[in-house]
Amino acid sequence: MEIIISDSPNDVAVKAADILQGYANRGATLGVATGSTPLATYEELIRRHTAGELSFAGCKMFALDEYVGLPIEHEQSYYSVIHNELSNHVDIDPQDVHIPNGLAEDLAAGCADYEQAIVDAGGIDVQLLGIGANGHVGFNEPSSSLSSLTRMKTLHPQTVADNARFFDSAENVPVHVVTQGLGTIQRAGQLLLLATGEQKAHAISQLVEGPLSAACPASILQIHPHATVIVDEAAASKLNNVDYYKFIQQHKPA
Ligand code: PGA
Repeated sequence: MEIIISDSPNDVAVKAADILQGYANRGATLGVATGSTPLATYEELIRRHTAGELSFAGCKMFALDEYVGLPIEHEQSYYSVIHNELSNHVDIDPQDVHIPNGLAEDLAAGCADYEQAIVDAGGIDVQLLGIGANGHVGFNEPSSSLSSLTRMKTLHPQTVADNARFFDSAENVPVHVVTQGLGTIQRAGQLLLLATGEQKAHAISQLVEGPLSAACPASILQIHPHATVIVDEAAASKLNNVDYYKFIQQHKPA
């Protein structure tokens, strides 16, 4: 894994945008994430697009997850979030923006269709990821199968509490979701996980320096051949080997 420790959340976003820009400009298939963390990266990508530095023409996007039962028009549906925070502001064909269907009558069939759509697109070239305070990626909560595919999951109460800030109250947060699995995520060509803030420091220490374990689903990055973790100093604050990760970055071969 490449561990990049940045001075500030803004610097995390700039570094993430630098990586994503290369993919976007070649019309790649991008795995996109919701939550607060990637928003600054999306702002930076939109800024670069508006400045004419970057095009999403020919790109495809696949979101990680979606709430079950939330109408897509709801402002907190991930359909709305991805469209409002990113895709509506750039030159991607709306037909090429894919979100798991949390309203399918047959959720299992909808999840299988989503897996197939990713395969039909030739796979995801780069998957952007946040991390939950409990180590989840996508909505793969602790105890998720490390080889799971897109399926319905039940949120952990901590995730419901964490996401209550987006809703009027915790009771309004849907408990069920559909999410790409840990096996789905591992098939992406590159994984790019971002984290900022002290509240992510424990999860980042488990991801980077803990065991490979379903107790920390993000630890699957340890067995991915091309995983990049970009964190700010606060999210890096519980890592034992910070100096070494910085040393590696300072001595990166040209
Ligand atoms: P956050 O969520 O970016 O809002 O902290 C990340 C996640 O739960 O995966």
